[in-house]
Amino acid sequence: MKKFALALPLLLLAGCAATPNAEKQAALTDSARQTAAGLLQTLGGELKAAMAAGGPAAAIGVCKERAPKIAAEAAQKTGFSIKRASPKNRNPKAVPDAWETAAQASLEARMAAGEKPETLDMSAVVDTPEGKLFRYAKALPTQAVCLNCHGDPDKLSPEVQAKLATEYPNDKAVGYSTGMIRGVLSMKKAM
Ligand code: HEC
Repeated sequence: MKKFALALPLLLLAGCAATPNAEKQAALTDSARQTAAGLLQTLGGELKAAMAAGGPAAAIGVCKERAPKIAAEAAQKTGFSIKRASPKNRNPKAVPDAWETAAQASLEARMAAGEKPETLDMSAVVDTPEGKLFRYAKALPTQAVCLNCHGDPDKLSPEVQAKLATEYPNDKAVGYSTGMIRGVLSMKKAM
């Protein structure tokens, strides 16, 4: 009897606290997925067009200039803060934070367990000193086209090698093969 008397108010408390957050998290996850899909479609389209027009060395500019602009536009429209991060980063600013590092590791484990890399994502609500923060990470799987700039360093074209060496002297983002998770698209928003 005593156990019940204690458990019931605890359950109610937990229930009341969890439900609105869970609903909010589900809605934010939907909206993050839509934002990610739109952004990646735009970026992918521009990358392919630039590759077709001038080859991979010329397309580096799309990744360098356009990717952050496309992300900033989507961020302004949706209120998400958006970045790309990778444990083997090319842009010095793309270093993952602790949550992103754990997220990528967990997405990699799910992929190893058989999930398709194209649809891999996850979200969480984390407590911060400033309040609750919604976080979302989508896996960015390495496709064949990515290998032009992220593949085996010896197989990159000499133009790409030269451009990467001057623009990204601390580049770690080579040596990938198809199917590996190149990094994550990371979004967050206060809730
Ligand atoms: C034409 C060359 C090129 C191709 C093709 C390319 N990238 Fe990149 N990628 C870059 C460059 C350059 C950067 C650094 C951009 C910057 O300065 O923010 C980058 C950065 C990234 C980042 C951000 C993290 C980091 O390392 O800085 C991710 C994630 C990424 N690329 C994934 C991909 C994926 C996935 C593909 C294939 C769908 C791809 N890239 C194709 C050149 C390329």
